[in-house]
Amino acid sequence: MPTSDMRFFEVINARRSIRQFTAECVPVEVLEAIVQAGLESPTGCNAQLRQYIIVTDPAVMDRLRTVSKAMDGAPAAIVQLIEPKPTQWGDFHLQDAAASIQSMLLAAVALGYASCWIEGQVRRSHEEIRRMLGVPDTLHVSAILPIGRAAQQPRRPEKATLAQTTYYDSYGRKKA
Ligand SMILES: Cc1cc2nc3c(=O)[nH]c(=O)nc-3n(C[C@H](O)[C@H](O)[C@H](O)COP(=O)(O)O)c2cc1C
Repeated sequence: MPTSDMRFFEVINARRSIRQFTAECVPVEVLEAIVQAGLESPTGCNAQLRQYIIVTDPAVMDRLRTVSKAMDGAPAAIVQLIEPKPTQWGDFHLQDAAASIQSMLLAAVALGYASCWIEGQVRRSHEEIRRMLGVPDTLHVSAILPIGRAAQQPRRPEKATLAQTTYYDSYGRKKA
């Protein structure tokens, strides 16, 4: 592997979906740094259709945690909202949302915290989450990221390999 920035790849490899958290509070500066990483991600036509809600109020967290078992004990969360608005070159809002979420997941790990991508938009409780947080109808809740210290160390799930998924110069052509 090229060794230009090993720490970056350590973060990539260390990231796991964590679904149980300790009660340790997360400083708001940490949560803002994670959102900042999301804001740095690319967006189609630079449309920047995302907004965020940082949740630390224990009463709001108690309600939010009812949305998914994957937020067990989480003391904080970042809720990503997205305006499903097409650009003049096409509708990229789902891709924009995903790029930002991945950056935030990696930023959390880089800062010593853990998270899990909890889907919002296709959830049965999407409307309920929207009402819970006072989100206007013009925005979708694209994801909820619980943030906290990991209280579990799940094994790396099996991942497809380079040999299984990757071709060279044309589809189906293996490495010489
Ligand atoms: C689009 C998307 C939606 C996901 N939604 C959920 C979810 O609602 N709840 C959950 O527990 N995990 C969710 N996950 C996490 C996946 O289950 C997890 O990434 C996968 O099992 C691989 O594990 P890893 O993240 O530790 O590599 C989601 C992941 C993605 C990319």
